[in-house]
Amino acid sequence: MTDNLFQSYALNDTLTLKNRILMAPLTRCMADDELVPTQAMADYYGRRAEAGLIISEAVIIRPDGQGYPNTPGLFSPAQIDGWRVVTDAVHQNGGKIFAQLWHTGRVAHPHFYQATGSQDVMAPSAVGVEGSVPRMRELTYQTPKAALVEEIAELVKDYSQAAANAIDAGFDGVEIHGANGYLIDQFLHHDSNRRSDEYGQTPENMSRFALEVVDAIVERIGNDRTALRVSPGAYFNMAGDSRDREVFDYLVPELEKRDLAFLHVGIFDDAMEFDYLDGRASSYLRSIYNKTLVGVGSFSAETGSTAIAEDKFDLLAIGRPFIANPDYVERVRDSKELVEYSDEMLTSLV
Ligand code: FNR
Repeated sequence: MTDNLFQSYALNDTLTLKNRILMAPLTRCMADDELVPTQAMADYYGRRAEAGLIISEAVIIRPDGQGYPNTPGLFSPAQIDGWRVVTDAVHQNGGKIFAQLWHTGRVAHPHFYQATGSQDVMAPSAVGVEGSVPRMRELTYQTPKAALVEEIAELVKDYSQAAANAIDAGFDGVEIHGANGYLIDQFLHHDSNRRSDEYGQTPENMSRFALEVVDAIVERIGNDRTALRVSPGAYFNMAGDSRDREVFDYLVPELEKRDLAFLHVGIFDDAMEFDYLDGRASSYLRSIYNKTLVGVGSFSAETGSTAIAEDKFDLLAIGRPFIANPDYVERVRDSKELVEYSDEMLTSLV
């Protein structure tokens, strides 16, 4: 029934996955106060090495990218050393792991980086979001500062340095977090990008930052080790706008030319439909992207396997069920019952 999930899959000449099940990136807020991964995190990832590929929880590229407590970083030597323990644990158990590189943009909060002396929240435009930081409701979101062109260039450099740090820390590659309403995604949607310079208004301009980050990382670590997650449908910290379609119509074929390791849909439920995409985000991407596509979002192994058989995407990422079942892959393979996920499971790393 789920046999196709257990076929190996060559992403390219460098990387072959032992099966088609990916562990989706899952923020756990369990790094220490210096944002260094802990031994408990190494054990947690090590236990999930049966996945064809683990994508790490989102990892911030620099201090002002932080929007949630205790999310790990990849900018200090101690953080790189901490991640090396994690990647060693995964490799010793026969797995592979990519780092997901993250800057939260307008949902960052200076509370987390006040020690750097900066009070700025960096975003494409000075358009804030309503609300406050989850789990720390006293921290309301601020109106961000529209990044200057020089600051954008600095961000691109910091993404590529974080990618180089990821390779140094033993990761097999990186997934750039271009999804879910965070910094890169903020450039790609009209709700958050109101710029009138070369980073705004037209599809080409609005795609510029994403492509500059991709190109800078590819140059540093290779296209074979670089992947990207995108959310063409706005659904989180972002309002939809039908003009966004043209942005992705331009961006996605440009990405295809870069021959990346894969493109990953950023969504919580694949069944969600978007008027301006004529349906699901995954179907939209499949219709304009001819290389490896990773599907995700409220799938079981069975429904995911069927979606792959029906050519809806090539690889299946599993999120919440992987939190509930460290041995998810074995359980599916052996047709054993799964433990059901619940939000209380987020309070500890098992
Ligand atoms: C997520 N998700 C997520 N996505 C991402 O790109 N980076 C991240 O760090 C996180 N963090 C995160 C934490 C938690 C607790 C949840 C539940 C989700 C989204 C995740 O990768 C995935 O897209 C969704 O969970 C949908 O897949 P499942 O859980 O239905 O298999």
